[in-house]
Amino acid sequence: MKILVLTLGLALVCGLQALDDNKGGDLLELSGVWYSIGLASDNESKIKGEGVYKMFVKNIKEDNGMLVGNFMKRENGKCVPFTLTGQVVDDVIIVQYDGMNKGYIKGKGRDYVIFVLYNYKNGKVTIWAELYGRTPDLTDEIKNLFVEICKEHGISKDQIVDLSKEDRC
Ligand SMILES: *[C@@H]1O[C@H](CO)[C@@H](O)[C@H](O)[C@H]1NC(C)=O
Repeated sequence: MKILVLTLGLALVCGLQALDDNKGGDLLELSGVWYSIGLASDNESKIKGEGVYKMFVKNIKEDNGMLVGNFMKRENGKCVPFTLTGQVVDDVIIVQYDGMNKGYIKGKGRDYVIFVLYNYKNGKVTIWAELYGRTPDLTDEIKNLFVEICKEHGISKDQIVDLSKEDRC
């Protein structure tokens, strides 16, 4: 019995490692059109109104191992386009935006991806998370998964906004 449990444990560990090894490849599957659907942060003022993280993804392209994302953001009521470039190092996406951000893919399916990001600025760490969909809205099941993943990272339900019904610029 003990041996069986050990074998199962090892199989699980190896399986998880295989998943991990695949992440580099996963990052390159991020290309194409996306819609911002969920946005969350442990600092709510950054996701509400014209908060710094209140942005809408349009598309992502892969360029020479870098991820290039096109976004829209409201500034003084006007929609402004901007571009962010992410450097992919192992399974981390490093993006300079309002400080330095380390992004991790914490969930992924055929029609969605969930990022959890750690922002480092002036010695402060802010956690934020994004749910992107291939379609302008996603099922409640995926939205609930986003809530769960946020919770695991210390972001509570009232620190999450649903962008699916918002004007995305
Ligand atoms: C939350 O974000 C606002 C706006 O960026 C900032 O002024 C404030 O210091 C932040 N609060 C904490 C606790 O980091």
